[in-house]
Amino acid sequence: MTLDRLILEFDRALRAVAGVVQASRPSPAQQVPETAVDDGQRGHAAALMRVNHVGEVCAQALYQGQALTARQPAAREALEQAAREEEDHLAWSAARIRELGGRPSLLNPLWYAGSFAIGALAGALGDKWNLAFLAETERQVEEHLTGHLESLPPDDQRTRAVVEAMRADEARHRASAVALGAAELPEPVRRAMRLSSKVMTTIAYRV
Ligand SMILES: [Fe+2]
Ligand SMILES: [Fe+2]
Repeated sequence: MTLDRLILEFDRALRAVAGVVQASRPSPAQQVPETAVDDGQRGHAAALMRVNHVGEVCAQALYQGQALTARQPAAREALEQAAREEEDHLAWSAARIRELGGRPSLLNPLWYAGSFAIGALAGALGDKWNLAFLAETERQVEEHLTGHLESLPPDDQRTRAVVEAMRADEARHRASAVALGAAELPEPVRRAMRLSSKVMTTIAYRV
């Protein structure tokens, strides 16, 4: 790896953790008017968006870790394209947390470091498994966002617009990983991923 690349990746890591990522597409919340919800509901929506934001910090780290080790140019390109869309998600969810009066997770550096290591490991196993891991991650994120849509205040259309757009992107990311030849992960691995995301989401809802 060149020094330039290393500096670029390090810069991306810092921006992801510090929450100063610029979206390339406007937030889907932009055309949706703010609706009045009570404090409890707003707090719940802010906490759910903090969970989503942590998920996106992890996505940045995973994609970076994976793109660094991906072998085929097609796989690397797909990872980089998805990573750019994940940057939008990162910026949109950070903006929505602020609008709801919440704050991002204090543990973001930790989430980032852990996910980067997992991404680099998945990448080291070769593209088939790298893409398999990506496809499964996206599938679990998609399910998770569906759960959030059920749990979010029905009137909070602004938050819902962000979550819905993210979910649509994640579905496409999964489809592109499958199209590039993602293997199917063994069930114990899928279960371990579910368990670790459960731990992450439970903590991130609070801290
Ligand atoms: Fe995302
Ligand atoms: Fe994604």
